[in-house]
Amino acid sequence: MKLIWMTDPHLLPNGRTLLGYSGEKRLRLAVERIAEFHSDADYCVVSGDLVDEGDVASYQLFNDIMSSCPVPALTIPGNHDNRSAMRSQCAFPDNCHAEFIQYSIVKDGYRLVMLDTLNEGSAEGLLCEERLRWLDDELARQPELSTSVFCHHPPGKLFLPAQDQNQSDYGHKLLDKLCAAPNVKHLFFGHVHRPVSGHFNGLGFTALQSIALQAPLPYPSWDWDTFVPADEPPAFAIVHLTTDSVVVHFCPFCKATDFLL
Ligand SMILES: [Fe+2]
Ligand SMILES: [Fe+2]
Repeated sequence: MKLIWMTDPHLLPNGRTLLGYSGEKRLRLAVERIAEFHSDADYCVVSGDLVDEGDVASYQLFNDIMSSCPVPALTIPGNHDNRSAMRSQCAFPDNCHAEFIQYSIVKDGYRLVMLDTLNEGSAEGLLCEERLRWLDDELARQPELSTSVFCHHPPGKLFLPAQDQNQSDYGHKLLDKLCAAPNVKHLFFGHVHRPVSGHFNGLGFTALQSIALQAPLPYPSWDWDTFVPADEPPAFAIVHLTTDSVVVHFCPFCKATDFLL
């Protein structure tokens, strides 16, 4: 399976920018690159923070841009998203949970599990009992299937002090489930607007740059009062998944200063 993976475009309507960065223009350029080089991909995953303010107009803008993408989109919410506005504008597979935007895709003997970690009103991740029960059922249904999981929030400490939140409850619950499932191969998440990889309890993970703007490394240290976006370019990723391998290519698609207004 070949995936395009994008995260955190943080779209705003009416040409507005995020601290001067145009997520709209950057997403349009990313989609142009995908159409040029990656129309053979199976899916285009967008792992949350599709829009910045959870408004319907921004999801309409997202759909307008993605209508040029030759690869079907699989979206999940992040902390900036609004479930009802997202549901009103985005399509989801028939097996999507009725309340939460989480679902699974099986193709060519490989499964993608898309999780909804949104805790409305909070920046932190959450998997309530209902969502955890759904995950249990999903993983138990076809335990032999090689599986990768996408969500928005990191479930563990990334040594990014301004961004490491109190994931102890959410993260432990998620990792307990995933690490106990023998065929869960990898976890992909967004939210931190940085490329990071490693493993939690033996489960490999990857985090990805934002389409919109990047968070700086913590050297020197910073906090949200002193936050200035990093002078680093946006990227999407190409992900190749087989039963015995996970390969991620990071693909910057413009300069750090392009579409900075
Ligand atoms: Fe974000
Ligand atoms: Fe986020």
